[in-house]
Amino acid sequence: MHYEVVLPAAGSGKRMGAGQNKLFLTLLDKPILIHTLLVFEQDEACSGIWLAVKDTERDYIQSLIAKYNITKIKGLPTGGTERQHSVHSCLKEMKDVEIVLVHDAARPFITAPIIEKLADTAYEKGAAIAGVRAKDTMKIVREGIIKETVDRESLWMIQTPQAFRFNLLAEAEGAAEKVGFLGTDEAMLVERLGHEVYVVESSYDNVKITTQEDLIFGEAILKARAK
Ligand code: CTP
Ligand code: MG
Repeated sequence: MHYEVVLPAAGSGKRMGAGQNKLFLTLLDKPILIHTLLVFEQDEACSGIWLAVKDTERDYIQSLIAKYNITKIKGLPTGGTERQHSVHSCLKEMKDVEIVLVHDAARPFITAPIIEKLADTAYEKGAAIAGVRAKDTMKIVREGIIKETVDRESLWMIQTPQAFRFNLLAEAEGAAEKVGFLGTDEAMLVERLGHEVYVVESSYDNVKITTQEDLIFGEAILKARAK
């Protein structure tokens, strides 16, 4: 199933503490942002890439896009103060798209088979997100004291991509905006409408590069894949 992808890239990377947008840090030979862009550049089912960027970083990002020969960029709208606003800045410029994927630019290790499954499920069911089963025992803790051990069977750690029929996501976004609802991901906006969101089992490799130690995990993943 063909799709267009929205990549929010307008964050500041505070938790990384690198003093710059973490997406510009390199993993082995390339910036994180380029690793992510190349996945979609090389996926034949991807027919367009939308990148939400900061105004002050647009020129630099455009120079990277040229340097690494990324050809599928359809727009680089200005991101907002929250991730959801950045995603919105892309969605409002998209036209005639049936399936849209939203994927954190900070998750460079996503692979085509998972993307394909998400796009197909979104086409069939409306909404699909990537997730992995929780590995650790999970407990609800309040004020340092365990209140409850949660049944791990039903616990999933949610990632991106999240894939939607475009009209469904647009409707969910509009409804959220009306009441000023801010979700941590796009699925939450669709859940609010009472629409079912299907989970596609993803990979533990699909980490979000967030803090310094993730750079070490990231390079290890790249080295293992190169073998
Ligand atoms: N993002 C965005 N616009 C924002 C905030 C985040 O486009 N206002 C993007 C980031 O660039 C990243 C993705 O959303 O690709 C996931 O966000 P996160 O991992 O939290 O990145 P940052 O917000 O940059 O990091 P931090 O929260 O540590 O500041
Ligand atoms: Mg953030």
